[in-house]
Amino acid sequence: ANTNNTVDERLLNICELLEANVSYYNWVGFYFRNGNKEELKLGPYVGAPTDHTIIPFGKGICGQVAVSNENFVVPDVAAQDNYIACSITVKAEIVIPIFVNGENIGQIDIDSNTPDPFTEADERFLEFVCAQVASIL
Ligand code: SME
Repeated sequence: ANTNNTVDERLLNICELLEANVSYYNWVGFYFRNGNKEELKLGPYVGAPTDHTIIPFGKGICGQVAVSNENFVVPDVAAQDNYIACSITVKAEIVIPIFVNGENIGQIDIDSNTPDPFTEADERFLEFVCAQVASIL
């Protein structure tokens, strides 16, 4: 195991693995709470570059998960009022929070160019991924 890799390298590896192996995972990235601020900061990601490197708590799908502490599955992004568009190709999104000692410290965010692709299997799988991530932070 590459135990000498930095955390960011390992998180990027996870993004690459997910994007490469799940056909409907088209943008995969991490957002983390930015210090003690009420905002998220973009971490490692794979996919099209985004202007949304800082997202205030409450804004967009990601910002809502920062305050709800709940998974957010969006089958159709066009049907969401509180949504931040990163790319016009995106049809659906899933955001799963990452908990360390019960605290919501960030999230994995996945965009799909396929409409309504995410199932409960994705939620369970990504919860597992997030638990693994929590253990390396
Ligand atoms: N769509 C997200 C913003 C982040 S991009 O998907 C990379 C949102 O509404 O919070």
